[in-house]
Amino acid sequence: MKLPASNAAVCAAALLPVASATIYYAGVAQSGGEFGVWSATSTKGTGLPGRFGVDYQFISTAGVDTMTDQNKVNLHRVAFLLERMCPPSYGLGAKFNETHFDYYKQAINYITKTKGAYAILDPHNYMRYNDPSSQPMSGSVIGNSSDPTAATTAQFGEFWGELARRFADNEKVIFGLMNEPHDMPSALLVANLQAAIDGIRKAGAKNLIIAPGNSWTGGHSWTQGGAEASSNWLQKLVDPAGNLAIDIHEYLDVDFSGSHAACQQDPATNLANVTAWLREHKLKAFITEFGGSNTTSCTTMLNGILDYMAQNDEYIGWTAWAAGPFWGSNSPCCTDSKQWGSLEPGSKAADGGPSLYDTVWLPVIQKKVPAKLQWRGMASVKGGRLEEKPQKH
Ligand SMILES: *[C@@H]1O[C@H](CO)[C@@H](O)[C@H](O)[C@H]1NC(C)=O
Ligand SMILES: *[C@@H]1O[C@H](CO)[C@@H](O)[C@H](O)[C@H]1NC(C)=O
Ligand SMILES: *[C@@H]1O[C@H](CO)[C@@H](O)[C@H](O)[C@H]1NC(C)=O
Ligand SMILES: *[C@@H]1O[C@H](CO)[C@@H](O)[C@H](O)[C@H]1NC(C)=O
Repeated sequence: MKLPASNAAVCAAALLPVASATIYYAGVAQSGGEFGVWSATSTKGTGLPGRFGVDYQFISTAGVDTMTDQNKVNLHRVAFLLERMCPPSYGLGAKFNETHFDYYKQAINYITKTKGAYAILDPHNYMRYNDPSSQPMSGSVIGNSSDPTAATTAQFGEFWGELARRFADNEKVIFGLMNEPHDMPSALLVANLQAAIDGIRKAGAKNLIIAPGNSWTGGHSWTQGGAEASSNWLQKLVDPAGNLAIDIHEYLDVDFSGSHAACQQDPATNLANVTAWLREHKLKAFITEFGGSNTTSCTTMLNGILDYMAQNDEYIGWTAWAAGPFWGSNSPCCTDSKQWGSLEPGSKAADGGPSLYDTVWLPVIQKKVPAKLQWRGMASVKGGRLEEKPQKH
């Protein structure tokens, strides 16, 4: 029987290799450890060191319980500030504020040991250090040799070496080298990232590392910016342990900022170039920030970005922005400054209505959390064995 042309095309398509795309790690960004420093007048030192549990906090254990046990996510990205871990009076490097480190370690151990999930360490510093008062713009760019007050590239390597040494025995910890570097030379960015990778591997840690690009690590702009484009630089990173992936952020509103309620930027179109670049260089990626509001346009595009990651082999994990204990009714994402709450379970919008957890996480994002994720063994660019969440750890 002669098949109609359209059926012939279907048969030909069926002979193409079957896509083996897999998401191994899925979850949420826990934001709050970086809180309590913002000053409209950029008053240096505002909120440092800050009061733990009052000005800032890493996680709410109840929120992590709900997300991990009921929503069955296996990944939490936990923000902290470099200036709290390494107070400016010490300088950036291997000397930590041990009290602060202990608070952070408790949060990471809760996620990884008590709950059995994976945790991304997230220095939320935009590749700047010494003045977080007006993030994301304040502070000296790390490694800026024209700025005598800037921390050096070597100090950044020492910092990561020490942090890695302390978590080297915890295979569920992932090292996110830096949140959203921007407005700096890409050569310096890559030098800093390489110093961190070298510091981590010299410390004996084989944990998965995720490295950001320039320009706020935007996926849409990965190949933009001429010679400075991330696509000209990030493939130069060398990891002797072969466990390095790329860390991408991608918001869906008009200017990719995550501040507007309307989603207008089609993720499949905007990620096509970075995906091709990842494929060319045989690299895997996480999208550790994306989000949307409780609007029809965002429902469509959130489904779009989650499906895109599920269908493209280059993407192995994601965390949505953001949960965390201190958002209250404020929205971390995508509401034109309206207070619609956050992704924190149990939180409310300012009008007492449901928060983004109820209006966006549960009806939209939750449906795309794969039933099977990795729950045991080291986080890896190759992923691990997939299974439903085990009852006990
Ligand atoms: C270290 O952290 C603790 C707890 O936040 C704080 O009380 C102390 O002042 C910090 N030390 C420095 C040098 O920042
Ligand atoms: C480096 O420092 C110099 C001197 O303060 C400043 O003019 C320049 O803008 C800085 N570069 C970056 C990338 O911040
Ligand atoms: C992707 O690359 C093509 C070819 O260089 C370019 O025309 C297009 O603008 C790029 N898209 C984005 C979103 O950067
Ligand atoms: C989104 O949620 C907020 C807070 O619950 C509510 O006021 C608003 O009407 C919702 N918007 C849409 C389009 O459903």
